[in-house]
Amino acid sequence: METILIKDLLSRPADGSRVVVRGWVRTKRDSKNLVFLEINDGSCFRSMQLTFDRAAGLSPEIEAALSDAVTGASIEAAGKLVPSPASGQESELAADSLEVVGKADPAAYPLQKKRHSFEFLREIGHLRARTNTFGAVARVRSRLAFAIHEFFQNRGFQYFNAPLITASDCEGAGAMFQVTTLDLDAMAKSGKALDYAKDFFGKRSYLTVSGQLEAETYATALSRVYTFGPTFRAENSNTTRHLAEFWMVEPEMAFARLEDNMALAEDFLKHLFGCALTQCREDLEFFDERIQKGIIETLDSVVRARFTHMTYTDAVRELEKHADAFEFKPFWGCDLQSEHEKFLTEKVAGGPTIVTDYPKEIKAFYMKQNDDGKTVRAMDVLVPRLGEIIGGSEREERLDALVNRLKEVGLAPEDYWWYLDLRRYGTVPHSGFGLGFERLILYVTGMANIRDVIPYPRAVGQADF
Ligand code: 4AD
Ligand code: MG
Repeated sequence: METILIKDLLSRPADGSRVVVRGWVRTKRDSKNLVFLEINDGSCFRSMQLTFDRAAGLSPEIEAALSDAVTGASIEAAGKLVPSPASGQESELAADSLEVVGKADPAAYPLQKKRHSFEFLREIGHLRARTNTFGAVARVRSRLAFAIHEFFQNRGFQYFNAPLITASDCEGAGAMFQVTTLDLDAMAKSGKALDYAKDFFGKRSYLTVSGQLEAETYATALSRVYTFGPTFRAENSNTTRHLAEFWMVEPEMAFARLEDNMALAEDFLKHLFGCALTQCREDLEFFDERIQKGIIETLDSVVRARFTHMTYTDAVRELEKHADAFEFKPFWGCDLQSEHEKFLTEKVAGGPTIVTDYPKEIKAFYMKQNDDGKTVRAMDVLVPRLGEIIGGSEREERLDALVNRLKEVGLAPEDYWWYLDLRRYGTVPHSGFGLGFERLILYVTGMANIRDVIPYPRAVGQADF
């Protein structure tokens, strides 16, 4: 007799073989002659139905166990895998043994069989993975993480681990969390100035906002690399698209221009959506039915569509024609707001859109400057409902241009000596981008709030569990 996951049991023929099932009780229904337990082990969306037949005679031990087998309790049961008369399931377990492994007091267990709001479930983050929605989100995350590695490994990219603690601000936006072991309380009381030379790293250090700069150092040695790890931003933006701690995927390619970068981003997203459609079908059907109607159809159409390409200048021209539609009036030089991004992808292009060649003032220092002296070879990939899902660029590979740009934005070239060395020794055109993993999961699942697609969200005022 073997114990296997419910996902595997459900795909086996209902041939009467004896199996063991372990998991957590979702519901119990007690009728005169039959007791039904719905058991979920999280291995797939579906639960396994266990039936206990009183007419066939149940031992006092089983009756006692059944009375403790309430919603939330963990159980182990054994019996025969038989065809199920119920609709929506091919097999069920005709159980003849039951042990309650861990009880759950029905008066206290917070996840009773009813709909709970996502706000409420955020307060019980340690239990929410036991619900349909959060179980499904967790499985989609896991499968797509695997798909990310698959995609890059199949294309000759090496997985590169960027450091999480750094002294440089990649995006130059100053939204960094400081890392220190200085005794801040004592120093505040003493009134003395902070001396970072005495700090752990001998200088001011931070949690990284992006692994890109370090990824560039490896791309200019290994040709193609990608990072996939946590990144941190101390942006004070309390939105449904921003987290303070999120996972980012950053490919970086040597000998690659913006056009190659755009093609890679499109292939990449299509691979991930395609994988979700085929490998996470059951979970997506749930999201389609209960969370966001039409999400399967949308993903299907994106996999087939060609992404629209548009320069920033053309995008702003389009937006200016519809200025009335926006709270923030668009003009050349403005940073595109979420409302603008959504308009471009939903109303102008009607699908995923890559906007390129942004004004240099609103983009990071490392982007390659165009000959017009005003714009840089940046690209943002926008998708309906969400806006920006990917941000990237061709990198400035010319030493003098990069040094000038650092000075222009008020950064000290000495601090970036190692980054500049890449331009001193064997420089090459190179490009890359960053995909926010949680933005991807938001898009694929149709969930509305980014805090509900990461196990333990960190955002302004929120670091529980
Ligand atoms: O556009 P961003 O800031 O680009 C970079 O960090 C570059 N270094 C990437 C590169 O070229 N290698 O961020 C990239 C992506 C965004 O498009 C978005 O999907 C996600 O990261 N992102 C966030 N996701 C959740 N919460 C936040 N606060 C995010 N900020 C960015
Ligand atoms: Mg961006």
